[in-house]
Amino acid sequence: MSKNRVSRRQFLNYTLTGVGGFMAAGMLMPMVRFAVDPVLKANASGDYIATNVKVADITNEPQRVDFTFDQVDAWYESEVTGTAWVFKNDEGKIVALSPVCKHLGCTVDWNADKQNPNRFFCPCHYGLYEKDGTNVPNTPPLAPLDVYPYQEKDGILYLGKAQPREGA
Ligand code: FES
Repeated sequence: MSKNRVSRRQFLNYTLTGVGGFMAAGMLMPMVRFAVDPVLKANASGDYIATNVKVADITNEPQRVDFTFDQVDAWYESEVTGTAWVFKNDEGKIVALSPVCKHLGCTVDWNADKQNPNRFFCPCHYGLYEKDGTNVPNTPPLAPLDVYPYQEKDGILYLGKAQPREGA
């Protein structure tokens, strides 16, 4: 008889360990996939969202544009309202600015401060921005307002995800 002979007890141990391992893997894989899947999914940040604004109606006076979209944060899906200040600049190019103040995140308003006409004004700490979104020196914000990339489809304005201005 060989010394390497497997005893009945060892055989049973190996078999049960192997079968148990397969069963555990079969149960754990769906749970791991459930836990990780939403994180691995590509998010929709590259998508453009339709507004209710016709490109032809955009003037050189900033107008507040609200738009809604579905946002998925891992397992939680919600409807979010976004806002942009939209106008055409002197070259006729559309500009869409984020209303989120770059100081501490309050919401800026257009032409709301009588002493600073034709500027964006943040009431929280008297932040000021020029019409093109550039922060006014010696006021609290240290960077220009973020800019939305935009597209025109069938005459309607679509907005992407607001980005910090290059060089800001
Ligand atoms: S949050 Fe806008 S100036 Fe402070």
